Amino acid sequence: MQETAGTTLVDAAELQELMKRKFMKAGLKEAHAEETARHLTYADACGIHSHGTVRVAYYAERIAKGGVNLDPNIVFKPTSDSTGVVDCDNGMGQYVCNVALDYAIDMAKKSGSAIVGVARTGHSGMLSYYVKRAAEEGLAAIAMCQSDPMVVPFGGSETYFGTNPFAFSAPTNGEKPLVFDMATTVQAWGKVLDARSKNRSIPDTWAVDAEGNPTTNPHDVRALLPIAGPKGYGLMMMIDVLSGSLLGLPFGKHVSSMYHDLTEKRNLGQMYILMDPAKFTDPEAFKKRVSQMIDELHSMPPAKGYDQVYLPGERSQIRYAKAMKNGIEVATDIYEYLKSDVVHLDEYDGKGAFA
Ligand code: NAI
Repeated sequence: MQETAGTTLVDAAELQELMKRKFMKAGLKEAHAEETARHLTYADACGIHSHGTVRVAYYAERIAKGGVNLDPNIVFKPTSDSTGVVDCDNGMGQYVCNVALDYAIDMAKKSGSAIVGVARTGHSGMLSYYVKRAAEEGLAAIAMCQSDPMVVPFGGSETYFGTNPFAFSAPTNGEKPLVFDMATTVQAWGKVLDARSKNRSIPDTWAVDAEGNPTTNPHDVRALLPIAGPKGYGLMMMIDVLSGSLLGLPFGKHVSSMYHDLTEKRNLGQMYILMDPAKFTDPEAFKKRVSQMIDELHSMPPAKGYDQVYLPGERSQIRYAKAMKNGIEVATDIYEYLKSDVVHLDEYDGKGAFA
């Protein structure tokens, strides 16, 4: 552990254990707490602090107040050889979505592809966590999920869609799969939370304040902006249709709020699309082509001001390898909370979308 202004460098194993204990104290079963802590550690190690420790107090409060089913009955209903829906019974998002992925991987390996809806889940965290696992099993994978309304549609004055992310992964013939993961907003809401926790300003392109003006103060944010205007707006709509309406779940502005009522279950949706490359081409030749693409991108001379051309998502994976060895930067007050006996800080329940 090493401290710099406002942040502390914490060993990954220690961080995971502290989070696991906190979630168990809040009420989660050990396996659910462990998987959630592993997921959050992965996020922080990747440098995606928006989906790591910064969320623990919120999750612990929701778990303690009844907004997560502590003993979910997770049921997979196949609807054909390559389609199905997993009912997650509102268990802890990171845990139940990981279980749902096991079903989808199994189906894709047997039938060549799997389109699996994940219904009635909680907040699922960082989507690359799931697709990376599928690629490690030799599959190409896409994951997408809806989230609570906090984005103004292009040209609109009120929030409607969520930050609705998608992630993609594919195997290569190297050690690591391709992994790309992004919210369809300029930044995920958690990035604003992270900036708040570290008292840092945000770029004026991320979000607007209550008057609809661009803001650099993370505390003033009242709506996020879609990437690339109407194009990001279209993408978030597609994701909401496929992971919400298609599964018979609430959609758009009807999606449950993260903070509105922490005693209520979230009923969120996610969608996995997994493909076995062998059903489309020679799988070894596929991996070779992907690896050739990677080499060609890596060997391209960088533009002025850049050190090299990275693959989309590559920098997170580089950060992950380093952080697992050298430690993870955590806001010091969050670290103190994790070490304390306090279960949660009672600071989120009943708040608006931008608590
Ligand atoms: P981001 O803006 O940090 O990164 C987007 C992508 O661009 C990443 O794959 C990143 O590695 C890549 N990238 C960034 N700079 C790059 C560079 N210079 N060269 C090459 N690639 C580069 O991510 P964002 O959009 O803020 O999303 C963060 C996380 O939040 C994601 O894991 C997403 O799944 C998660 N999320 C989850 C939600 C949920 O409800 N479960 C809702 C919204 C986001």
